[in-house]
Amino acid sequence: MNVQIVFLVLVTILPASILCQSDADTWYKGGNFYQIYPRSFKDNNNDGIGDLKGITSKLEYLKEIGIDGVWLSPIYKSPMKDFGYDISDFTQIQPEYGTMKDFEALAAKCKRLGIRLILDFVPNHTSDQHEWFIKSVNKEPGYENFFYWHPGKVNATTGERSPPSNWLSSFRYSAWEWNEKRKQYYLHQFTIEQPDLNYREPAVVAKMKEVLVYWLDKGVSGFRVDTIPSLFEVAPDENGNIPDEPPSGKCNDPDDPCYLSHIYTYDQNETYGIVYEWRELLEDYRKQHGGDQLILMTEAYSELPYILRYYGDGKLNGSQIPFNFHLLRNTNKTSDVFEFKRLIEEFLGGVPAGSEANWVLGNHDQKRLASRLGEQRVDLFNILLKTLPGISITYQGEEIGMTDVIISWEDSVDPPACNSNETTYYAVSRDPARTPFQWDDSRNAGFNWFKKPWLPISTNYKCVNVKTQRAQPRSHLNNYKRLIKLRKEASLGNASYESALFGEIYTYKRQSGSVKPIVVALNFGKTWETINLSAKYNLPEALKVVVASIESQYTEGQIVNGTRLTVPNDIGLVLTTL
Ligand code: GLC
Repeated sequence: MNVQIVFLVLVTILPASILCQSDADTWYKGGNFYQIYPRSFKDNNNDGIGDLKGITSKLEYLKEIGIDGVWLSPIYKSPMKDFGYDISDFTQIQPEYGTMKDFEALAAKCKRLGIRLILDFVPNHTSDQHEWFIKSVNKEPGYENFFYWHPGKVNATTGERSPPSNWLSSFRYSAWEWNEKRKQYYLHQFTIEQPDLNYREPAVVAKMKEVLVYWLDKGVSGFRVDTIPSLFEVAPDENGNIPDEPPSGKCNDPDDPCYLSHIYTYDQNETYGIVYEWRELLEDYRKQHGGDQLILMTEAYSELPYILRYYGDGKLNGSQIPFNFHLLRNTNKTSDVFEFKRLIEEFLGGVPAGSEANWVLGNHDQKRLASRLGEQRVDLFNILLKTLPGISITYQGEEIGMTDVIISWEDSVDPPACNSNETTYYAVSRDPARTPFQWDDSRNAGFNWFKKPWLPISTNYKCVNVKTQRAQPRSHLNNYKRLIKLRKEASLGNASYESALFGEIYTYKRQSGSVKPIVVALNFGKTWETINLSAKYNLPEALKVVVASIESQYTEGQIVNGTRLTVPNDIGLVLTTL
């Protein structure tokens, strides 16, 4: 018997539990993840700002819809210049969000409900109020090199000093800020109040590892790693000089980060090594303490080859979930089906063996899915997110089709918006996607009941809210729940994937072992079309509707003719055999 035959025989006679890795290793595979932006999820104490007790009070909702893991945007002590991404103490809770006790209660309830808790880990920078920065400003021994300091360039004739390079902050203007006390510039890739940590200083690497262990000891299941591509910048040369970045040709505004090609400040080689070290730390922690697989989700708006490197380098493992922003970065309302299919299959083709794809169509930094890709396509995109191979990640509110709220220039609070001007701010503002979650049709959409929320509630909350949609059989929310249920029943995480285009209708079949196949049809075009799905996928004529966009004429459980299936524009359908 050759090796292949032996394997096949074993596969047929051994119970699945012996062949497969245990659930403790693979729980995140095919998982349904959900991002909570704590400031806007649920305000328990009525101060206008969401909090930990609010989240705890709503965990049953996440359980009800079928979420496996939840990641929280930062909850740590912060002066809130970048709404929590400027951290002044990595191991304390921001008082307006609650206390450590509240966090422990939240973690315990997650455990009870079987929801994995993932925290945001922000390694690139601290707040300028963090004690490490204050110590570094004062050149306290051991802290001198915690941040990226530089004396700047001095003009030999005038003696005038200027920043060391032309590097720009992601939020506009120079990435260098002069510190009068230390008499040097420091680097900040984001707001002035977010100095960049220096990962060439071993003490920084060690301290940040301690932060990971601190939260692992509190029982979290992993971390979403913030802005990983900006962790390293090129080091000064032997004369202390730092190179300028070349113009990108993408825009004409020299203060806008799109003006430069970020070849010295993003995607530097050393970054991957650190991610692999963090993964190793998680593996070692698990070896010592037992428990289930611990995960990393990495945030990188990089080109595909760079994103894929986060999985590992073939020898060392990295992030299990390098966020797939390939669709998010490259699509909008005008993108056609060919573009979507190409981007999806490019990502699927790039995922290394043994790893999983993941799908993200929104987060707290982007315009909301419904507003960006079309309110009439909310179900179509939720079907896509939930039926493609791999892991799906939902930003709070996508499951009910929440839309952006237009915030005036005067009311804007987001740093990139405030750093721009009245005519350009909207394009860069992240406020519209951060407005409070819409729970019901009562005052303030059930986010709280009294104090004005920190950002306004959408005027559509009377219809677009959890309570109303829960009661409607045809609603985005109920479709979302059906999709997760289907995902679990049809073992979609590891099912095969076979696709075809019918004009502008994207279709694919997914099948796992002997479980009934599902077939998906998504009409990205502008007209109704009738297609023969059964012939294409070798399926019987009669098919059953499992999920249908609420705007369609189809209902769940309806039997349709797969040889003459009419799919209206903007509609998504999931079908199975009888
Ligand atoms: C990440 C976060 C974003 C934040 C930035 C700086 O991109 O998602 O919200 O402003 O990092 O920490």
